[in-house]
Amino acid sequence: MPCAPLTTLRPARVDDLGRVLGWVPDAEACRRWAGPNVSFPATPNGAWLEMAASPDNAFALLADTVPVGFGQLLAGDHRVVHMARLIVAPGHRGRGLGRRLCEALIATACDDFAARRLTLNVYADNHVAHALYRSLGFSELLRDDAGEVILMSRPTLPPRG
Ligand SMILES: CC(C)(COP(=O)(O)OP(=O)(O)OC[C@H]1O[C@@H](n2cnc3c(N)ncnc32)[C@H](O)[C@@H]1OP(=O)(O)O)[C@@H](O)C(=O)NCCC(=O)NCCS
Repeated sequence: MPCAPLTTLRPARVDDLGRVLGWVPDAEACRRWAGPNVSFPATPNGAWLEMAASPDNAFALLADTVPVGFGQLLAGDHRVVHMARLIVAPGHRGRGLGRRLCEALIATACDDFAARRLTLNVYADNHVAHALYRSLGFSELLRDDAGEVILMSRPTLPPRG
């Protein structure tokens, strides 16, 4: 695997979505990435509203100065933070950036949200994302009735002992 470039995570802006929406090829990919509330095609402003995005909950991963990844941290009750809408630019996949994006979001969830537990949803047939999340310590909590979508979870602190 080629080396991933230096990366930083920063709060996202509406104009980042202009780029991110270009990484989503069709309505089905959009639904699987962002859920049923985000239209396809969407304008950056429209998607920003549909995602209830803000600079507090949406983040862009930059390689040098170029956005190459995006994700949201949605705070729930009891310091549970849900990681949502993770995506890496198609031309940059398979280089470790998805892992960087997850690690940076996890660090932000701990530092800025005081997260105690993290959750995320993944399609069971999204083998790349599923393998990535398992390798980061997420395990399956439950599946939807159709068995298509898995809710995964992990504590933010390593288990004791
Ligand atoms: C899921 C996604 C974010 C992963 O990003 P990425 O940059 O390709 O991931 P990485 O290169 O960091 O790889 C991380 C892990 O994914 C797995 N992986 C990556 N490419 C893979 C492939 N072609 N086949 C199988 N597993 C693969 C491996 O476990 C890898 O770990 P390793 O580094 O120890 O080999 C990216 O594929 C993506 O944006 N997909 C479309 C949107 C999406 O599905 N988002 C997730 C919604 S839950």
